[in-house]
Amino acid sequence: MKAVEIAENIYFIGANIKNGDLFEGMWPIPDGVSLNSYIVKGDKTALIDLVRDWDNAPEALKEQLASLNIDINNIDYLVLNHLEPDHTGWLCEFLKLNPKVTILTTQLGKNMVKGFYKNEDNVQIVKDGEKLDLGNNMELTFYTAPNVHWPETMVTYNEKSGVLFSCDAFGSYGCVDNPFDDQLDDEKHAFYDRESLRYYANIVASFSPFVQKAIDKLASLDIKMIAPSHGIIWRENPSVIIERYRRFAEYMNGPAEPEITILWGSMYGNTESALAPLIDGIKSEGVTVHLHQVPNEDVSFPLTSAYKSAGLVFAMPTYEYRMFPPVAAAIDMFGRKHLKNKKVLRIGSYGWSGGAQKEFDSITADYNWDCLEPVEWQGGCDEDTKKKIYEQGKKLAKTVKEFCGV
Ligand SMILES: Cc1cc2nc3c(=O)[nH]c(=O)nc-3n(C[C@H](O)[C@H](O)[C@H](O)COP(=O)(O)O)c2cc1C
Ligand SMILES: [Fe+2]
Ligand SMILES: [Fe+2]
Repeated sequence: MKAVEIAENIYFIGANIKNGDLFEGMWPIPDGVSLNSYIVKGDKTALIDLVRDWDNAPEALKEQLASLNIDINNIDYLVLNHLEPDHTGWLCEFLKLNPKVTILTTQLGKNMVKGFYKNEDNVQIVKDGEKLDLGNNMELTFYTAPNVHWPETMVTYNEKSGVLFSCDAFGSYGCVDNPFDDQLDDEKHAFYDRESLRYYANIVASFSPFVQKAIDKLASLDIKMIAPSHGIIWRENPSVIIERYRRFAEYMNGPAEPEITILWGSMYGNTESALAPLIDGIKSEGVTVHLHQVPNEDVSFPLTSAYKSAGLVFAMPTYEYRMFPPVAAAIDMFGRKHLKNKKVLRIGSYGWSGGAQKEFDSITADYNWDCLEPVEWQGGCDEDTKKKIYEQGKKLAKTVKEFCGV
């Protein structure tokens, strides 16, 4: 693969990870992920963001640097916008090949370079708004963007071209073949739309207030291109991904979209048999339903759907006096990821004396969920219960519509 010029003397270098590993050791990436780095050339050369030794990413980096006739040893500056190892894991090897490079990062980034890589040499701290002159009319400006999604995070901006190197911010899962937004057809755009939401819900959602702050802070810049370190480069319409991220961040405060995610799990089908009237009830109000079953699906997917939905239904039986464990595990994840401000319904079957509802109420007490009257029944779901469930589904859909003002 060859490096791609994205603006005068600015190049994209991308490594696609498609070996089937989980991202951050836990999130499935069936369509891979890209680790993007960038070269900015003035009289001096800067490399923005590195890679991890993962699925031959260092080889891809070296190959593309070679396509630009750049020897690693001749890179003057290494900008580390973010210290998470997907962008820094290869640092020790890089330093062996280029012992005189200057690493640019925030104060917190410097502490992390020491902590992760036991290196204190060559690191220069940059402050918010500080500029670096690369010569030949090429300048970089650094802006801190704390807690998007790590505390040391910053972004780098080239005023001349208007390119913002945003690292994880405005990123997405998914490998990248054609890097630019204007090279993609509708299907590909729909794919990155989905995968940017999943990336956001999985990785960034908990830090939404900081995302909002960062977007507000960067609003004064004349951003002509967004060049993130995962996913595609936005050169035709950078505002699409900025507005998308703004919307994603607002989902946390609610209301999210006027949609309902049903998360369900069932051992013998008694809870499952209530799904049809539930869905009918919701659909009778014209509200879109997303159905996710656990443990069959990895939590990454229902988490994404639930993050974007203003309404949630949890359909699960009682299991050993408590919630059905796969649904309980997903609810735990929803809490960890701060899925707040939702309209919620819980339904489910029990066999002896129940218990799932009690645990559900106590675990979600501080989730800031507005819960409708639950529906529980013993064993099979009879016609009366199905009617009740239909009605509660309808009521939830109405509540969601009111909440969302539609
Ligand atoms: C391993 C296991 C544990 C259970 N624990 C409880 C329980 O603690 N309390 C209860 O009321 N029912 C309990 N039940 C009964 C189920 O809740 C009941 O069979 C229910 O109808 C299952 O719904 P499902 O078909 O949707 O899985 C348990 C069932 C199983 C198989
Ligand atoms: Fe990260
Ligand atoms: Fe990352």
